[in-house]
Amino acid sequence: MGSSIALGFSLLLDYISILLKENWKLRLAHENDIPALEKLISLSVRGLQASHYSIAQMDTALGSVFGVDRQLIRDGTYFIVELNGELIGCGGWSKRKTLFGSDHHTTRDDAELDPITDAARIRAFFVHPDHARRGIGRAILEACEKAICDAGFTAIELAATLTGVPFYAAFGYIPGEKSDVPLAKGLSLQIVRMTKDLSEVQRRGQMR
Ligand SMILES: CC(C)(COP(=O)(O)OP(=O)(O)OC[C@H]1O[C@@H](n2cnc3c(N)ncnc32)[C@H](O)[C@@H]1OP(=O)(O)O)[C@@H](O)C(=O)NCCC(=O)NCCS
Repeated sequence: MGSSIALGFSLLLDYISILLKENWKLRLAHENDIPALEKLISLSVRGLQASHYSIAQMDTALGSVFGVDRQLIRDGTYFIVELNGELIGCGGWSKRKTLFGSDHHTTRDDAELDPITDAARIRAFFVHPDHARRGIGRAILEACEKAICDAGFTAIELAATLTGVPFYAAFGYIPGEKSDVPLAKGLSLQIVRMTKDLSEVQRRGQMR
């Protein structure tokens, strides 16, 4: 009896999850999404990073390391996912040198990368904690990788939070060196450089 109730409940959850997935809408972000993006990023950081970073680290990193990068929106390389008009995920890619950080981060370099010699960047992925592990990150990452291939890049580089490492690793990104990003108040935030070589993926695609 108990197990059939549990099975029924689990099927109901699967059904709800399918319904939610069907209602997602992935689109490019616009400047007028910025207030909602700022709210989402804060919720995502506080809700999903708490097992890796302290409250002080998250508070201090919000607005500098974690935040909106308007350059990505202007470039048309930043995606959002909406559910019934609510913003529940965001993330993008970049053809510019800056590896991470919001508009307000101190070390920015907006110079353009060369697709032949440089790796494109994956940037600023944040999912609403109520919608984590439902494939939203995956949907945005797949859209970014397609756009990166279309732009002629054959490699990708990113700076992952400790929370992001298993997510990117699930899609073939290889972890490299760890580093500590200096924050205000003498704090720092550990991040991990991760890379993916797309040339093999593209070669297999052309052979099909
Ligand atoms: C990282 C993040 C964007 C992932 O988004 P998501 O929508 O929950 O990820 P998905 O549901 O698409 O996950 C796809 C796969 O990645 C892996 N994965 C994702 N989150 C994981 C976790 N916390 N632990 C282990 N594996 C994970 C799994 O293999 C997962 O597939 P599964 O759920 O079928 O097992 C989300 O956790 C987040 O917003 N974190 C807070 C902000 C942050 O740190 N962003 C990273 C910036 S570099």
